[in-house]
Amino acid sequence: MARHEELPLPIYNTLEPVYGEGPEEAQLRFDNLKSKFIQLFGHPPDVYARSPGRVNLIGDHIDYEGYSVLPMAIRQDTIVAIRKHDAGESEKLLRIANVSDKYPMCTYPADPHQDVDLKNHRWGHYFICGYKGYHEYAKSKGLDVGLPVGLDVIVDGTVPTGSGLSSSAAFVCSSTIAIMAAFDVNFPKKEIAQLTCECERHIGTQSGGMDQAISVMAQNGFAELIDFNPIRATDVQLPGGGSFVIAHSLAESQKAVTAATNYNNRVVECRLAAIVLGIKLGMKPQEAVSKVKTLSDVEGLCVSFAGNHGSSDPVLAVKELLKEEPYTAEDIEKITEDNLQSIFANSPTSLDVLKVAKNYKLFQRASHVYSEAKRVHTFKDTVSSNLSEGDMLKKLGDLMNESHYSCSVLYECSCPELEELVKICRDNGAVGARLTGAGWGGCAVALVKESIVPQFILNLKGQFYHSRMDKGVINKNDLGLYVFASKPSSGAAIFKF
Ligand code: GLA
Repeated sequence: MARHEELPLPIYNTLEPVYGEGPEEAQLRFDNLKSKFIQLFGHPPDVYARSPGRVNLIGDHIDYEGYSVLPMAIRQDTIVAIRKHDAGESEKLLRIANVSDKYPMCTYPADPHQDVDLKNHRWGHYFICGYKGYHEYAKSKGLDVGLPVGLDVIVDGTVPTGSGLSSSAAFVCSSTIAIMAAFDVNFPKKEIAQLTCECERHIGTQSGGMDQAISVMAQNGFAELIDFNPIRATDVQLPGGGSFVIAHSLAESQKAVTAATNYNNRVVECRLAAIVLGIKLGMKPQEAVSKVKTLSDVEGLCVSFAGNHGSSDPVLAVKELLKEEPYTAEDIEKITEDNLQSIFANSPTSLDVLKVAKNYKLFQRASHVYSEAKRVHTFKDTVSSNLSEGDMLKKLGDLMNESHYSCSVLYECSCPELEELVKICRDNGAVGARLTGAGWGGCAVALVKESIVPQFILNLKGQFYHSRMDKGVINKNDLGLYVFASKPSSGAAIFKF
C-alpha cells in the first residue's frame, strides 16, 4: 500500500469523512459560506478546500534545521470557498472576502508575479502567497498554468490567530489547495506539503515545513512524526490514558510582523552557529560559508568530535567549541573570514535580521536544536515502548517539560504569560506542559491524565482566565476558544458537492 504522503488529497462530496464528530456545525459553516458567496459574487462557489491548524507536541524550532517534529492536527480549520472566472468575464481580479466582519474584503490584481507588500501587512496576503506559489509550482511542472485568472474567494477560519496553532498555515494551505482544485489539479500530499511551505515564505518568515506538512498530511486519530528532506509522515498512536489540553496565554504572537527580531533572527543564528561549528571542526571558512545551511549539515562532524571524547552527543561539540557569551558580528566575521552581509546577500529577510541584531547567541541556539531533536525521537520511542501507561505518561511529560525549559532558557522564545500558564498547568496536575509552535506568545500544551481533564480545565479557568475576564481582556462566552482538550484530527481535504 502507498504511504499516505504519496496519495493525492482526498476529494469528498459529503462532510462526514472530515467532520464526523460535529457535522451539523460544519454544515452550518458550509451553508453560510455558500449563501454569502452568492450574495457577494452572484454565483455559488465551484469548490471548497479545508486545512486544519495544529498543535506541536514536541520539537519546536528545529524543522528549519532539518530535524523531525511531532505535531497533531486540531479540529479548528480554515475553509476556503472559491470560484474561477470564466474566460469571457472581463475583470481579472482576486477578490478575497471573509465571513467575519473583522476582515474586510481585500482585492488584488490577478498577476501571479506581483510582490507581496510586506511593509503593509493585510490578511489577504496569505491567499496571495498561495496564488504565487501555485503558479511557480505549476510552471515548474510544465502544467498549463492558466493564470492570471479572476478568482472570487470567501474564507472561514476557526483557528485562533496569533495563537501558535498555525492559523497562517491553515489559511495558506487551504488557499493553495482551493486554487489547485479550482483548476481541477491534484498532487501527492508530500508535494503539496512542500509547495505550501514555499508559498508561506512569500509572507517573509523563513519557516520550516512542519505546519504545512501536518495540515496537509494529518490522519484522524494520530499524531505524526514529520521528517524532512524528503517530507514523510509516520502515524504515531498516542497513549489512551492521556489528553492534550491546549491553553492560550492571550499574548498574541504575530510571527510575520516580528520576524526580523524573533523567528528569522533564530534561523540566522542557527545558520551562523552551524557555519562556526563547521569551521571549528575542520572545514575551510569559504567552504563552510557556501555549503553549510543548517545545524543538521554539521551534525555528523559534531558527533565524530563527541565520539573522540567518549560520547555520541553533538551537544558536546557545542559545549567545547562555542563560547557561551553572545558573539558580536565582528567575532563571527573573524572566524568566517567573510562579512555577515555577504554571507546572507541572497536573503533579504536575513539582511533585515542583521540590521537589528545586537549579538548572536550561537551556543544557546545550537544546544537547543540538537537536544530538542533528540527529545523528539525519545518521545516517539517512548510512545511505542511497552512501558506501563503511568510510566509512559510520566516520561512523555518529563520530555515536554525539558523541551519547555530549552525553548524558554536556551532559545528564548517564551514570554511571561506563557511562563505563568505553564506553571499553572503543572501546579494543577499536568504531567508535562510546554509552549507550542513558534512561541513569543500563543498557546501552551499540557499532557493531562484523561480522568482529571474537566477539573484541570476548570482550575485553569479559575487561576489564569478569570482575572483576565474581569479586566476585560477576554469575553466569558469565548472561554472555550482559549482552553480546550484536543484529539488528533484529520488533514486537508477538497469538497465538491
Ligand atoms: C512556526 C513555523 C514552523 C516551526 C515553528 C516552531 O510555526 O511555521 O515551521 O518552525 O514555528 O517549531
